[in-house]
Amino acid sequence: MYSLTIPALGVLAIIVLYVWPGVASTGSKARRKLPPGPPRLPFVGSLFHLPKGHDWLVYEQWGKKYGGDLVHIDVLGSNIFVVNSAKAANELFEKRSSKYSDRPSLTALTQLLGFDWTLVFCPYGDRFRAFRKGFHTYLSPDAVKDYRHIERKSIHRLLCNLAEKPEEFTGHLRHMAGAIILAIAFGIDVKAENDPHVETAEKGLQTVTAGSTTRAAMYDFFPILMRIPSWIPGAGFKKEANSLRRFPRAMLEDPMQATREAMAEGRATSSVASAMLAKLESQSTLKSEIDVETVCALQIFFLAMTTHPEIQRQAQSEIDAIIGQDRLPDWDDETSLPYVGALVKEVLRWRIVTPLGVYHRLIEDDVYGEYFLPAGSTVVGNIWAITHDEAVYPDPMSFKPERFLESTVDFPEMVFGFGRRICPGRHLALESLWLGVASILATYDISKAVDENGREIEPVDDCVSGIVAYPLPFKCSIQPRSAVTERLAVAPLVWNN
Ligand code: HEM
Repeated sequence: MYSLTIPALGVLAIIVLYVWPGVASTGSKARRKLPPGPPRLPFVGSLFHLPKGHDWLVYEQWGKKYGGDLVHIDVLGSNIFVVNSAKAANELFEKRSSKYSDRPSLTALTQLLGFDWTLVFCPYGDRFRAFRKGFHTYLSPDAVKDYRHIERKSIHRLLCNLAEKPEEFTGHLRHMAGAIILAIAFGIDVKAENDPHVETAEKGLQTVTAGSTTRAAMYDFFPILMRIPSWIPGAGFKKEANSLRRFPRAMLEDPMQATREAMAEGRATSSVASAMLAKLESQSTLKSEIDVETVCALQIFFLAMTTHPEIQRQAQSEIDAIIGQDRLPDWDDETSLPYVGALVKEVLRWRIVTPLGVYHRLIEDDVYGEYFLPAGSTVVGNIWAITHDEAVYPDPMSFKPERFLESTVDFPEMVFGFGRRICPGRHLALESLWLGVASILATYDISKAVDENGREIEPVDDCVSGIVAYPLPFKCSIQPRSAVTERLAVAPLVWNN
């Protein structure tokens, strides 16, 4: 009997506490027009129309179907606005950035799973501003030049790992990105294999995935669920969260402790954490901000090279003509290699790493054209739709680096997000991506893998439907271009710091 009554009471409580006030308040604003969107039912809104995956494509279609730059989605009384055009994104996120820079409260990720320390989910306000200032100090275009020796070393290790176990390329990419962040943020030189800090970060990431499911989202829509004990049937996510929350904490605390110990023993190398600990600042700015996006971008690069051999060949010819095969590329070569630069830009546009960015929250009521946008709404920038607009990027689904060689098309910086929330790691990401891509192209040929009968295997060309849209696992062949480039890839580190 209890099993029937408790959920029924729960639903009633939810309606009374959350849905009814939403209905009552929108009633008084009845004459204020909301943007068009999918059909709505009383109380649940468009809940039953929500996409079941690849949300960015559905939102893009809704934009075309219902017209206009903005789409309104009502979920259980909460307003979500999807921004599908560059014009609206520019007007709202950039020109009116003081209103659009908050984050929705992600109860599951921040409170249940303990991801309250990362800038990504930090609400707009004084703490956010202090946080961003710190990021700027350590990740500005000039500051990132100081980390070039770290990036070179990690990319070189990647080249060696690709020679040894090419089939594990995704693992090597993760290791490379983790090594760069841990060295910059904490001065930690990660082990070549099975590094405990890299492993902790991986577990932390799985926790983000667990916190981004629909089950977890119920806690975001109804924070009252937080008060329900975890033993009650249906509150299972809370139990799962209790078992996972040690990983997000450990991601931050373990490397911080390692830095403290290294400083006490006088063997700490310079890092963001050691600089801040030296100034007795209790919080390290950069922390263990996990760089999953660069890993995803490099996976997309491997996919693009597997399916576009002629483009790979063109980039390699450019590298051979400019720097030959007796040394690896370096940043000084960047301006002499325009095609490689355009290829990196197209990797970031072709398959968007974070197709819907990270959601923003509107701080005060706003009006856009004829439409009213109430305070507290979630505002989603559909980066995918904007960077696949045919009018700006003709034939948008095709991988065409040359579109960025034509002077009329600018690189869409919004692949890194919007306004005051734009990715503070973008300069570091672009530096690592460029050197990673140029070095791999200089030394390896990437092509379709072949099965036991010698037939080419078509790579799976699809992605995960998450905040970060990783390509689904796919096979490819990674072979040294020649004996010369193989020696180059595995040679001892030759660069100066
Ligand atoms: C290809 C690589 C990357 C891509 C495509 C990317 C993309 C993004 C996007 C779309 C956002 C959300 C912006 C918004 O809310 O409008 C973001 C936020 C963020 N990114 Fe990146 N990112 C990348 C690499 C990095 C790296 C290397 C770091 C750290 C060193 C980093 C740290 C952050 C942080 C801390 C935020 C949160 C900013 C805030 O909430 O104010 N990202 N990134």
